[in-house]
Amino acid sequence: MAETVRRIGLSLGADLCWPLCYEEILRRIDAVIEHRGQRIRFECERVTIEPFNIRQPCKYDVVMDRVTHWYHTSREWIKKAIVMDGLYVFNNPWSIQSMEKQTTYCAMAQLGLPIPETWMIPPKSYETLPDLDVTLQRYARLFDLGAIGRQIGYPLYMKPYDGGAWRGVSHIADESALLAAYEQSGKYLMHLQAGVDNYDLFVRCIGLGPQFHIISYDPAQPLHDRYEMRRDFLSPQETQELRDMTLTINTFFGWDFNSCEAIRKDGQWYLIDFANACPDSQVTSLHYHFPWLVIANVKWSLYVAATKKKFRKTLDWEPYYDVCERYQTFSERLAGYARIGHQRLETEAFQEFCATSLRHVDEVAWEFFGSEAARRAVRLKVEALFPAHEVEQFTELFWQRIQTWRSHQASRQVAAPA
Ligand SMILES: Nc1ncnc2c1ncn2[C@@H]1O[C@H](COP(=O)(O)OP(=O)(O)OP(=O)(O)O)[C@@H](O)[C@H]1O
Ligand SMILES: [Mg+2]
Repeated sequence: MAETVRRIGLSLGADLCWPLCYEEILRRIDAVIEHRGQRIRFECERVTIEPFNIRQPCKYDVVMDRVTHWYHTSREWIKKAIVMDGLYVFNNPWSIQSMEKQTTYCAMAQLGLPIPETWMIPPKSYETLPDLDVTLQRYARLFDLGAIGRQIGYPLYMKPYDGGAWRGVSHIADESALLAAYEQSGKYLMHLQAGVDNYDLFVRCIGLGPQFHIISYDPAQPLHDRYEMRRDFLSPQETQELRDMTLTINTFFGWDFNSCEAIRKDGQWYLIDFANACPDSQVTSLHYHFPWLVIANVKWSLYVAATKKKFRKTLDWEPYYDVCERYQTFSERLAGYARIGHQRLETEAFQEFCATSLRHVDEVAWEFFGSEAARRAVRLKVEALFPAHEVEQFTELFWQRIQTWRSHQASRQVAAPA
Protein backbone atom coordinates (compact mmCIF):
# COMPACT_ATOMS: atom_id res chain seq x y z
CA MET A 1 0.00 0.00 0.00
CA ALA A 2 1.34 3.44 -0.96
CA GLU A 3 2.25 5.65 1.96
CA THR A 4 1.78 9.39 2.05
CA VAL A 5 2.97 11.81 4.69
CA ARG A 6 1.00 14.62 6.34
CA ARG A 7 2.72 17.17 8.52
CA ILE A 8 1.23 18.67 11.64
CA GLY A 9 2.68 21.75 13.31
CA LEU A 10 2.06 22.81 16.89
CA SER A 11 2.32 26.58 17.27
CA LEU A 12 2.77 26.96 21.02
CA GLY A 13 3.52 29.40 23.79
CA ALA A 14 3.34 28.42 27.45
CA ASP A 15 1.32 25.20 26.89
CA LEU A 16 3.15 22.25 28.36
CA CYS A 17 0.86 19.38 29.25
CA TRP A 18 -1.46 18.87 26.30
CA PRO A 19 1.26 18.98 23.59
CA LEU A 20 3.29 16.35 25.48
CA CYS A 21 0.22 14.10 25.73
CA TYR A 22 -0.78 14.76 22.13
CA GLU A 23 2.70 13.88 20.82
CA GLU A 24 2.90 10.76 22.95
CA ILE A 25 -0.48 9.46 21.78
CA LEU A 26 0.56 10.02 18.16
CA ARG A 27 3.75 8.09 18.85
CA ARG A 28 1.78 5.26 20.42
CA ILE A 29 -0.47 4.84 17.40
CA ASP A 30 2.78 4.79 15.37
CA ALA A 31 1.45 7.95 13.71
CA VAL A 32 0.09 5.81 10.89
CA ILE A 33 -3.50 5.21 9.84
CA GLU A 34 -5.28 3.68 6.89
CA HIS A 35 -7.82 5.80 5.12
CA ARG A 36 -9.65 4.89 1.91
CA GLY A 37 -7.00 2.41 0.82
CA GLN A 38 -4.13 4.77 1.63
CA ARG A 39 -1.54 4.51 4.37
CA ILE A 40 -1.04 7.94 5.90
CA ARG A 41 1.91 8.71 8.12
CA PHE A 42 1.74 11.80 10.33
CA GLU A 43 4.78 13.78 11.28
CA CYS A 44 4.33 16.25 14.07
CA GLU A 45 6.68 18.97 15.24
CA ARG A 46 6.60 22.23 17.12
CA VAL A 47 6.64 25.32 14.94
CA THR A 48 9.72 27.49 15.56
CA ILE A 49 9.87 31.26 15.37
CA GLU A 50 12.26 32.62 12.75
CA PRO A 51 12.49 35.14 9.94
CA PHE A 52 10.58 34.00 6.87
CA ASN A 53 10.46 34.94 3.24
CA ILE A 54 6.82 35.47 2.33
CA ARG A 55 7.35 33.27 -0.72
CA GLN A 56 8.92 30.33 1.08
CA PRO A 57 6.70 27.23 1.05
CA CYS A 58 5.02 25.90 4.19
CA LYS A 59 5.76 22.28 5.08
CA TYR A 60 2.65 21.69 7.20
CA ASP A 61 -0.80 20.44 6.23
CA VAL A 62 -2.35 21.57 9.48
CA VAL A 63 -1.22 23.85 12.30
CA MET A 64 -2.80 23.92 15.73
CA ASP A 65 -2.14 27.41 16.97
CA ARG A 66 -2.24 28.79 20.50
CA VAL A 67 -0.47 32.15 20.22
CA THR A 68 -2.11 34.12 17.43
CA HIS A 69 -4.07 36.31 19.84
CA TRP A 70 -0.93 37.81 21.36
CA TYR A 71 2.19 36.76 19.39
CA HIS A 72 2.14 38.57 16.09
CA THR A 73 5.11 36.99 14.29
CA SER A 74 3.44 33.58 14.46
CA ARG A 75 0.09 35.06 13.51
CA GLU A 76 1.51 36.74 10.43
CA TRP A 77 3.42 33.61 9.42
CA ILE A 78 0.19 31.62 9.71
CA LYS A 79 -1.73 34.19 7.65
CA LYS A 80 0.95 34.00 4.96
CA ALA A 81 0.80 30.20 4.98
CA ILE A 82 -2.99 30.22 4.57
CA VAL A 83 -2.98 32.75 1.77
CA MET A 84 0.05 31.43 -0.10
CA ASP A 85 0.23 27.73 0.72
CA GLY A 86 -3.33 26.66 1.52
CA LEU A 87 -2.53 25.78 5.15
CA TYR A 88 -5.37 24.60 7.41
CA VAL A 89 -5.05 26.16 10.85
CA PHE A 90 -7.22 26.18 13.86
CA ASN A 91 -8.27 28.78 14.72
CA ASN A 92 -8.75 31.28 11.91
CA PRO A 93 -6.25 34.09 12.74
CA TRP A 94 -8.20 36.94 11.07
CA SER A 95 -11.28 36.00 12.98
CA ILE A 96 -9.42 35.91 16.30
CA GLN A 97 -7.86 39.28 15.51
CA SER A 98 -11.11 41.03 14.75
CA MET A 99 -13.88 39.32 16.76
CA GLU A 100 -13.84 40.58 20.31
CA LYS A 101 -16.65 40.05 22.80
CA GLN A 102 -18.55 43.03 21.43
CA THR A 103 -18.73 41.71 17.86
CA THR A 104 -19.68 38.24 19.02
CA TYR A 105 -22.51 39.54 21.24
CA CYS A 106 -23.87 41.63 18.37
CA ALA A 107 -23.62 38.91 15.75
CA MET A 108 -25.23 36.23 17.89
CA ALA A 109 -27.97 38.55 19.19
CA GLN A 110 -28.77 39.28 15.56
CA LEU A 111 -29.17 35.54 14.89
CA GLY A 112 -31.58 35.35 17.84
CA LEU A 113 -29.30 33.60 20.34
CA PRO A 114 -30.03 34.38 23.99
CA ILE A 115 -27.63 37.19 24.88
CA PRO A 116 -28.42 39.21 28.04
CA GLU A 117 -29.14 42.92 27.69
CA THR A 118 -25.75 44.49 26.81
CA TRP A 119 -24.65 48.12 26.47
CA MET A 120 -21.35 49.73 25.55
CA ILE A 121 -20.23 52.96 27.24
CA PRO A 122 -17.43 55.32 26.19
CA PRO A 123 -14.33 55.06 28.41
CA LYS A 124 -13.72 57.22 31.47
CA SER A 125 -10.28 58.39 30.28
CA TYR A 126 -8.07 58.20 27.20
CA GLU A 127 -4.53 58.00 25.90
CA THR A 128 -3.54 61.45 24.71
CA LEU A 129 -3.97 61.58 20.93
CA PRO A 130 -3.59 64.55 18.56
CA ASP A 131 -7.26 64.81 17.56
CA LEU A 132 -8.80 63.52 20.77
CA ASP A 133 -9.81 66.79 22.47
CA VAL A 134 -11.47 68.29 19.46
CA THR A 135 -13.32 65.06 18.70
CA LEU A 136 -14.66 64.69 22.22
CA GLN A 137 -15.55 68.37 22.52
CA ARG A 138 -17.54 68.27 19.32
CA TYR A 139 -19.19 64.89 19.57
CA ALA A 140 -18.98 63.17 22.95
CA ARG A 141 -22.35 63.66 24.66
CA LEU A 142 -22.69 63.70 28.40
CA PHE A 143 -24.62 60.64 29.50
CA ASP A 144 -26.54 59.57 32.56
CA LEU A 145 -24.86 56.37 33.68
CA GLY A 146 -27.41 55.87 36.46
CA ALA A 147 -30.25 55.90 33.92
CA ILE A 148 -28.50 53.24 31.82
CA GLY A 149 -27.98 51.12 34.94
CA ARG A 150 -31.68 51.41 35.80
CA GLN A 151 -32.64 50.33 32.28
CA ILE A 152 -30.44 47.26 32.43
CA GLY A 153 -31.38 46.47 36.03
CA TYR A 154 -29.22 45.15 38.89
CA PRO A 155 -27.11 43.21 39.37
CA LEU A 156 -25.10 43.87 36.27
CA TYR A 157 -21.56 43.19 35.09
CA MET A 158 -19.09 45.77 33.87
CA LYS A 159 -16.46 44.16 31.65
CA PRO A 160 -14.01 45.20 28.92
CA TYR A 161 -15.43 44.82 25.40
CA ASP A 162 -12.44 42.67 24.40
CA GLY A 163 -11.59 41.09 27.74
CA GLY A 164 -10.24 37.76 28.90
CA ALA A 165 -9.09 36.07 32.10
CA TRP A 166 -11.56 38.14 34.17
CA ARG A 167 -9.39 41.22 33.68
CA GLY A 168 -11.39 44.32 34.63
CA VAL A 169 -14.66 42.38 35.25
CA SER A 170 -16.82 43.60 38.13
CA HIS A 171 -20.13 42.49 39.57
CA ILE A 172 -22.23 45.56 40.33
CA ALA A 173 -25.09 45.47 42.81
CA ASP A 174 -26.48 49.03 42.66
CA GLU A 175 -26.12 52.51 41.26
CA SER A 176 -23.46 53.79 43.63
CA ALA A 177 -21.31 50.72 42.86
CA LEU A 178 -21.83 51.39 39.14
CA LEU A 179 -20.69 55.02 39.44
CA ALA A 180 -17.67 53.97 41.53
CA ALA A 181 -16.71 51.20 39.09
CA TYR A 182 -16.91 53.58 36.15
CA GLU A 183 -14.71 56.11 37.98
CA GLN A 184 -12.10 53.37 38.38
CA SER A 185 -12.42 51.86 34.89
CA GLY A 186 -9.70 54.11 33.42
CA LYS A 187 -9.05 53.62 29.71
CA TYR A 188 -10.99 50.37 29.33
CA LEU A 189 -13.83 50.44 26.83
CA MET A 190 -16.57 48.74 28.80
CA HIS A 191 -19.73 46.72 28.39
CA LEU A 192 -22.49 46.80 30.92
CA GLN A 193 -24.35 43.52 30.83
CA ALA A 194 -27.41 42.33 32.74
CA GLY A 195 -26.20 39.90 35.39
CA VAL A 196 -27.70 36.43 35.33
CA ASP A 197 -27.60 35.80 39.06
CA ASN A 198 -29.36 33.19 41.21
CA TYR A 199 -28.94 30.71 38.38
CA ASP A 200 -29.21 26.98 38.83
CA LEU A 201 -26.52 25.92 36.36
CA PHE A 202 -23.41 27.42 34.75
CA VAL A 203 -21.71 25.45 31.97
CA ARG A 204 -18.82 25.75 29.59
CA CYS A 205 -19.39 24.00 26.30
CA ILE A 206 -16.10 23.25 24.54
CA GLY A 207 -16.26 22.64 20.81
CA LEU A 208 -13.35 21.10 18.92
CA GLY A 209 -14.31 20.56 15.29
CA PRO A 210 -17.64 18.68 15.44
CA GLN A 211 -16.88 17.34 18.93
CA PHE A 212 -18.50 18.89 21.99
CA HIS A 213 -18.00 18.54 25.70
CA ILE A 214 -20.21 20.33 28.21
CA ILE A 215 -18.78 20.90 31.68
CA SER A 216 -20.56 22.16 34.74
CA TYR A 217 -18.65 25.19 36.01
CA ASP A 218 -18.50 27.00 39.34
CA PRO A 219 -16.84 30.42 38.96
CA ALA A 220 -16.79 30.91 42.75
CA GLN A 221 -14.20 28.14 43.26
CA PRO A 222 -10.41 28.43 42.96
CA LEU A 223 -9.11 27.67 39.43
CA HIS A 224 -8.44 23.97 39.98
CA ASP A 225 -12.01 23.34 41.17
CA ARG A 226 -14.00 25.48 38.72
CA TYR A 227 -14.52 22.72 36.17
CA GLU A 228 -16.65 20.22 38.03
CA MET A 229 -16.71 16.46 37.60
CA ARG A 230 -20.50 16.12 37.69
CA ARG A 231 -22.03 13.97 34.98
CA ASP A 232 -25.55 13.62 33.63
CA PHE A 233 -26.66 17.09 34.74
CA LEU A 234 -28.38 17.96 31.46
CA SER A 235 -31.39 16.57 29.64
CA PRO A 236 -30.75 15.30 26.09
CA GLN A 237 -32.69 18.32 24.72
CA GLU A 238 -30.54 20.76 26.67
CA THR A 239 -27.37 19.00 25.56
CA GLN A 240 -28.54 19.30 21.97
CA GLU A 241 -29.42 22.97 22.34
CA LEU A 242 -26.06 23.87 23.91
CA ARG A 243 -24.15 21.90 21.30
CA ASP A 244 -26.07 23.55 18.48
CA MET A 245 -25.49 27.02 19.91
CA THR A 246 -21.77 26.34 20.31
CA LEU A 247 -21.63 24.83 16.83
CA THR A 248 -23.35 27.94 15.44
CA ILE A 249 -20.96 30.31 17.18
CA ASN A 250 -17.86 28.36 16.26
CA THR A 251 -18.65 27.90 12.60
CA PHE A 252 -19.96 31.45 12.22
CA PHE A 253 -16.63 32.84 13.43
CA GLY A 254 -14.45 30.15 11.85
CA TRP A 255 -13.26 28.81 15.22
CA ASP A 256 -12.74 25.05 15.25
CA PHE A 257 -11.80 25.30 18.91
CA ASN A 258 -13.77 27.55 21.24
CA SER A 259 -15.57 27.50 24.53
CA CYS A 260 -19.00 28.96 25.19
CA GLU A 261 -20.14 30.02 28.67
CA ALA A 262 -23.86 29.59 29.28
CA ILE A 263 -25.99 30.12 32.36
CA ARG A 264 -29.39 28.53 33.01
CA LYS A 265 -31.96 30.46 35.00
CA ASP A 266 -35.65 29.59 35.24
CA GLY A 267 -35.26 27.05 32.46
CA GLN A 268 -33.77 29.60 30.03
CA TRP A 269 -30.17 29.64 28.79
CA TYR A 270 -28.17 32.85 28.54
CA LEU A 271 -24.85 33.04 26.68
CA ILE A 272 -22.56 35.38 28.58
CA ASP A 273 -19.16 34.87 26.95
CA PHE A 274 -18.18 32.93 23.86
CA ALA A 275 -15.27 34.91 22.43
CA ASN A 276 -12.83 32.37 23.86
CA ALA A 277 -11.00 31.20 20.78
CA CYS A 278 -7.92 30.05 22.69
CA PRO A 279 -9.64 28.02 25.41
CA ASP A 280 -7.90 26.97 28.58
CA SER A 281 -6.28 23.62 27.75
CA GLN A 282 -4.31 23.03 30.92
CA VAL A 283 -4.57 19.93 33.05
CA THR A 284 -4.40 22.19 36.10
CA SER A 285 -7.85 23.57 35.32
CA LEU A 286 -9.41 20.81 33.18
CA HIS A 287 -8.07 17.78 35.18
CA TYR A 288 -10.86 15.13 34.76
CA HIS A 289 -11.83 16.65 31.38
CA PHE A 290 -8.24 16.98 30.12
CA PRO A 291 -8.12 13.57 28.35
CA TRP A 292 -11.27 14.48 26.40
CA LEU A 293 -9.53 17.59 25.10
CA VAL A 294 -6.31 15.81 24.10
CA ILE A 295 -8.20 13.02 22.33
CA ALA A 296 -10.47 15.52 20.57
CA ASN A 297 -7.37 17.39 19.39
CA VAL A 298 -5.79 14.18 18.10
CA LYS A 299 -8.91 13.12 16.20
CA TRP A 300 -9.72 16.47 14.62
CA SER A 301 -6.15 17.28 13.58
CA LEU A 302 -5.65 13.84 12.03
CA TYR A 303 -8.95 14.13 10.17
CA VAL A 304 -8.07 17.54 8.81
CA ALA A 305 -4.56 16.48 7.82
CA ALA A 306 -5.56 13.10 6.34
CA THR A 307 -8.41 14.44 4.23
CA LYS A 308 -6.65 17.70 3.40
CA LYS A 309 -9.73 19.58 4.52
CA LYS A 310 -9.92 22.93 2.77
CA PHE A 311 -9.49 25.94 5.02
CA ARG A 312 -12.22 28.62 4.78
CA LYS A 313 -10.36 31.88 4.40
CA THR A 314 -13.51 33.97 4.54
CA LEU A 315 -16.33 33.54 7.00
CA ASP A 316 -19.39 33.83 4.68
CA TRP A 317 -22.24 34.77 7.01
CA GLU A 318 -25.01 34.98 4.43
CA PRO A 319 -26.29 31.38 4.81
CA TYR A 320 -26.89 32.04 8.54
CA TYR A 321 -28.84 35.21 7.77
CA ASP A 322 -30.87 33.31 5.16
CA VAL A 323 -31.84 30.77 7.84
CA CYS A 324 -32.71 33.59 10.25
CA GLU A 325 -35.03 35.14 7.68
CA ARG A 326 -36.60 31.90 6.49
CA TYR A 327 -37.66 30.55 9.90
CA GLN A 328 -39.70 32.14 12.65
CA THR A 329 -39.03 30.11 15.80
CA PHE A 330 -35.75 29.91 17.64
CA SER A 331 -35.63 26.11 17.49
CA GLU A 332 -36.12 26.08 13.71
CA ARG A 333 -33.46 28.71 13.29
CA LEU A 334 -31.01 26.95 15.56
CA ALA A 335 -31.52 23.68 13.68
CA GLY A 336 -30.85 25.58 10.45
CA TYR A 337 -27.65 27.15 11.79
CA ALA A 338 -26.54 23.75 13.05
CA ARG A 339 -27.04 22.22 9.60
CA ILE A 340 -24.66 24.82 8.15
CA GLY A 341 -22.22 24.14 10.99
CA HIS A 342 -22.25 20.37 10.41
CA GLN A 343 -21.73 20.91 6.71
CA ARG A 344 -18.76 23.20 7.30
CA LEU A 345 -17.17 20.84 9.79
CA GLU A 346 -18.00 17.72 7.74
CA THR A 347 -19.48 16.03 10.80
CA GLU A 348 -20.64 12.87 9.06
CA ALA A 349 -17.37 12.25 7.24
CA PHE A 350 -15.49 12.95 10.46
CA GLN A 351 -17.55 10.42 12.40
CA GLU A 352 -16.95 7.81 9.73
CA PHE A 353 -13.22 8.57 9.80
CA CYS A 354 -13.16 8.10 13.59
CA ALA A 355 -15.11 4.84 13.36
CA THR A 356 -12.82 3.38 10.70
CA SER A 357 -9.36 4.92 10.56
CA LEU A 358 -9.14 6.04 14.21
CA ARG A 359 -10.94 3.23 16.01
CA HIS A 360 -7.85 2.39 18.06
CA VAL A 361 -7.24 5.92 19.33
CA ASP A 362 -9.60 5.82 22.33
CA GLU A 363 -8.01 2.68 23.68
CA VAL A 364 -4.44 3.87 23.10
CA ALA A 365 -5.28 7.15 24.84
CA TRP A 366 -6.96 5.35 27.74
CA GLU A 367 -3.79 3.29 28.27
CA PHE A 368 -1.61 6.35 27.92
CA PHE A 369 -3.50 8.30 30.58
CA GLY A 370 -2.60 5.58 33.05
CA SER A 371 1.12 5.71 32.19
CA GLU A 372 4.15 7.24 33.87
CA ALA A 373 4.62 9.51 30.80
CA ALA A 374 1.16 11.03 31.36
CA ARG A 375 1.88 11.54 35.05
CA ARG A 376 5.14 13.32 34.16
CA ALA A 377 3.24 15.68 31.85
CA VAL A 378 0.83 16.53 34.67
CA ARG A 379 3.68 17.11 37.08
CA LEU A 380 5.54 19.38 34.65
CA LYS A 381 2.51 21.64 34.35
CA VAL A 382 1.98 21.68 38.10
CA GLU A 383 5.65 22.54 38.63
CA ALA A 384 5.26 25.47 36.24
CA LEU A 385 2.27 26.93 38.10
CA PHE A 386 2.36 25.95 41.76
CA PRO A 387 4.82 26.76 44.56
CA ALA A 388 7.30 23.96 45.28
CA HIS A 389 5.61 22.83 48.50
CA GLU A 390 2.29 22.21 46.68
CA VAL A 391 3.65 20.32 43.67
CA GLU A 392 3.26 16.83 45.13
CA GLN A 393 -0.23 17.43 46.46
CA PHE A 394 -1.64 18.98 43.27
CA THR A 395 0.06 16.51 40.92
CA GLU A 396 -1.63 13.76 42.89
CA LEU A 397 -5.00 15.55 42.89
CA PHE A 398 -5.07 16.04 39.10
CA TRP A 399 -3.67 12.57 38.51
CA GLN A 400 -6.38 10.95 40.60
CA ARG A 401 -9.05 12.89 38.74
CA ILE A 402 -7.66 11.59 35.43
CA GLN A 403 -7.76 8.07 36.88
CA THR A 404 -11.42 8.66 37.79
CA TRP A 405 -12.00 9.59 34.14
CA ARG A 406 -10.32 6.32 33.12
CA SER A 407 -12.51 4.26 35.41
CA HIS A 408 -15.65 6.02 34.12
CA GLN A 409 -14.56 5.33 30.55
CA ALA A 410 -13.88 1.70 31.35
CA SER A 411 -17.30 1.20 32.96
CA ARG A 412 -18.98 2.95 30.04
CA GLN A 413 -17.33 0.52 27.64
CA VAL A 414 -18.41 -2.48 29.69
CA ALA A 415 -21.97 -1.10 29.76
CA ALA A 416 -22.02 -0.42 26.01
CA PRO A 417 -23.28 -3.22 23.75
CA ALA A 418 -20.60 -4.86 21.62
N1 LIG B 1 -23.92 38.57 32.40
C1 LIG B 1 -23.36 37.82 33.36
N2 LIG B 1 -24.14 37.17 34.27
C2 LIG B 1 -23.60 36.43 35.25
N3 LIG B 1 -22.27 36.26 35.42
C3 LIG B 1 -21.44 36.90 34.57
C4 LIG B 1 -21.94 37.70 33.49
N4 LIG B 1 -20.89 38.20 32.83
C5 LIG B 1 -19.79 37.74 33.45
N5 LIG B 1 -20.11 36.97 34.50
C6 LIG B 1 -19.19 36.30 35.46
O1 LIG B 1 -17.90 36.88 35.35
C7 LIG B 1 -16.95 35.91 34.84
C8 LIG B 1 -16.01 36.61 33.88
O2 LIG B 1 -16.75 37.21 32.82
P1 LIG B 1 -16.38 36.91 31.30
O3 LIG B 1 -16.36 35.45 31.08
O4 LIG B 1 -17.27 37.70 30.42
O5 LIG B 1 -14.91 37.52 31.28
P2 LIG B 1 -13.57 36.96 30.67
O6 LIG B 1 -12.56 37.96 31.07
O7 LIG B 1 -13.79 36.65 29.23
O8 LIG B 1 -13.31 35.57 31.44
P3 LIG B 1 -12.68 34.19 30.83
O9 LIG B 1 -11.33 34.52 30.30
O10 LIG B 1 -12.68 33.28 32.03
O11 LIG B 1 -13.63 33.72 29.78
C9 LIG B 1 -17.81 34.82 34.20
O12 LIG B 1 -17.15 33.57 34.21
C10 LIG B 1 -19.01 34.83 35.12
O13 LIG B 1 -18.73 34.14 36.31
MG1 LIG C 1 -15.45 34.16 30.21
